[in-house]
Amino acid sequence: MVLLGIETSCDETAAAVLKDGVCLSDLIASQADLHGPHGGVVPELACRRHVEVLGPLVRETLHKADCALGALQAVAVTAGPGLIGALLVGASFAKSLAYALHIPLIPVHHLEGHIASVFIEHDNVAFPAVALVVSGGHTSLYALARRGAYRLMGRSVDDAAGEVLDKGARMLGYGYPGGPILDRLAKAGDPNRIPFPRPRCAAPHDFSFSGLKSALARFLAGPQTATDEDIAAGYQSAVVDCLIEKTESAAIAAGAKSVMLVGGVAANSLLRRRIREMGDRLGLAVQIPSPRYCTDNAAMIATAGMQHYEAGQFAPLDFTPDPNLRLGASEN
Ligand code: KG4
Ligand code: ZN
Repeated sequence: MVLLGIETSCDETAAAVLKDGVCLSDLIASQADLHGPHGGVVPELACRRHVEVLGPLVRETLHKADCALGALQAVAVTAGPGLIGALLVGASFAKSLAYALHIPLIPVHHLEGHIASVFIEHDNVAFPAVALVVSGGHTSLYALARRGAYRLMGRSVDDAAGEVLDKGARMLGYGYPGGPILDRLAKAGDPNRIPFPRPRCAAPHDFSFSGLKSALARFLAGPQTATDEDIAAGYQSAVVDCLIEKTESAAIAAGAKSVMLVGGVAANSLLRRRIREMGDRLGLAVQIPSPRYCTDNAAMIATAGMQHYEAGQFAPLDFTPDPNLRLGASEN
């Protein structure tokens, strides 16, 4: 069974070939150079770059997998959420392939893709599980009764964790994406030097980060000074504390046997360490993908797509991506 996965929801163009569950090739064309000077993703520029890059990238991905176009048996593509123009580029490409090759078209929710990134490298996850999905656009906690069954337990009521880190780095004068920059700076800083707040949210498993961002802005405008390393360490550790506290209470509430940490911010070294410590403390298994599978990629879309293929879940050729697509039932 050979499946092509395509991801174009934001600022990475990505394609991957999966054969019998094994990833044969997995390429990502980053747009960081394009958006960096603007301090964030510019939707129109992202779409144009996807249009230019996707065709050649798919060809190269197939070549690396030593796979002919005609050997493909299904195509999976991110259907949302994301930037509508960017999603349309991937969806139109996938539809054309499905039509020309007479193969099934499989739409995949972007966050389901992130959760599936765990299964690229592990297939022994214990259920029920709780997944913390932390990226540039999302901060959500899902309970999984089994693979593919999602219940939304909570999410950020304002900014996503990645956005908070990116904006913090920007306030300090660094480029985009700022998350990895703060991660690096924080290693040489003292997280207790500046007492940043840990904003609270009334709902038990929701997050709120806007107060933290304002606290950084106030600190930078005030009379006190500190090194960028100490600021990065204090700010990052406030974000991580909030994520850990809510994940712990969600895992207990869901009676979870394991915790999954996925999404771009799951590449963060402090968060990886702290969630492992939490797992040890609570006696829970912890699954975190390798950093390369945390940020947007198509291997995760292909892996989620394979599960839909096995369940016979396909879309008609007139399906349209949805920039606000939801995943699973909600508790609220
Ligand atoms: O999942 P992703 O690639 O794209 C979205 O779906 O949003 O996540 C991108 C986010 C950015 O906010 C970026 O700063 C953050 O992931 N990120 C990190 C690290 N690597 C990427 N944040 C903290 N530490 C990192 N090492
Ligand atoms: Zn993502």
